[in-house]
Amino acid sequence: MQHTRTTVLLIDATRPELATIEHAAALLRAGELVIFPTETVYGLGADALQPQAVQRIFTAKERALSDPLIVHVANEGALEALVTNVPAQVRQLTRAFWPGPLTLVLPASSRVPKLVTAGLDTVAVRMPRHPVALALIQAAGVPIAAPSANRFMHVSPTTAQHAVADLDGRVPLVLDAGPCAVGVESTVLDLCSEAPTILRPGGVSLEALRSVLPDVQAAHKSSSLEEGQKSPGQLLVHYAPTVPAFLFDGPAEAMRKAMLAETQRRRARGEYVGVLIADEDVPAFHSSGAHVYTLGSTLEQVAARLFAGLRVLEETGVHVILCRGFERRGLGLAIQDRLLKASGGNVIHL
Ligand code: TXA
Ligand code: MG
Repeated sequence: MQHTRTTVLLIDATRPELATIEHAAALLRAGELVIFPTETVYGLGADALQPQAVQRIFTAKERALSDPLIVHVANEGALEALVTNVPAQVRQLTRAFWPGPLTLVLPASSRVPKLVTAGLDTVAVRMPRHPVALALIQAAGVPIAAPSANRFMHVSPTTAQHAVADLDGRVPLVLDAGPCAVGVESTVLDLCSEAPTILRPGGVSLEALRSVLPDVQAAHKSSSLEEGQKSPGQLLVHYAPTVPAFLFDGPAEAMRKAMLAETQRRRARGEYVGVLIADEDVPAFHSSGAHVYTLGSTLEQVAARLFAGLRVLEETGVHVILCRGFERRGLGLAIQDRLLKASGGNVIHL
């Protein structure tokens, strides 16, 4: 593909410089790509209403045209032009969670290019809460289609450097506002099926959604651990690091023991082992000889550091990554889903 010079501009995360925003917005209006921060992960943006601009997203990412994009808006009013009707549930959800990491799948209006929806009659829409994202969409004056700014099949980027590592030379501009606060992608909620259904767990938890809409149905079959157990080969390997990963799942003490034993076994074979663990596990791994990456102690910290941890271990050249599992509440559902995908269904149940 054509090689472009990629410029990275620093931008203030809370009070974005207007001149930088205007420059990026002008590129978007001209049909170019801009990588920008959101509170979840960095996005690879284009004007959602220009099919040629949207096509550039698929080319840069090497993404399959069958995978639809999320359209980002800067206010709730912008929904009207993108969807054929706004069900009452939408108002309740947007009042509670917008701006924020909740994507709503709604009936698409004919104004939305087929390239954005991958030919579906629905469109996914979200209003991010990152000040840079909001300012950029507002200044562009158009809705912005944006997938995560990684190459197809790689881990989503939570820093501008991650995005550049994957897409350098394919995008003219990257806005760098530092690391993303949430660290896992938005929750995708389908409002076009009988009951509201989570298609991808993410930054807004199932519990929080149920506090507003009690009939919200939990995740997507192929991303639940139970399904992973039944048919590991069926799992979509989507957030895969480039080295094999194994997920250890069970009580904390059992996970630590099994991960240590596996580290020892592999080291005896001359392998270099990376482990993704929580703060409470660190003492146990002190003299393990593994390359340790610590995710933190709360689920919020773990979510924020997870993708960076996978990338860091990948770059250290480890032969294998051993990850521990986390509890299935709050952000834990999204964390577990991403770990399951990163491990391609290689789960050791304890
Ligand atoms: O947090 C996020 O959502 C980030 C930031 C940049 O906003 N974006 C992101 O986009 O994760 P992407 O393209 O990596 O993931 C979009 C997800 C995919 O799983 C896609 O299949 C789903 O949303 N999706 C998009 N449109 C859909 C539709 N009409 N129906 C069902 N799923 C849809
Ligand atoms: Mg993605």
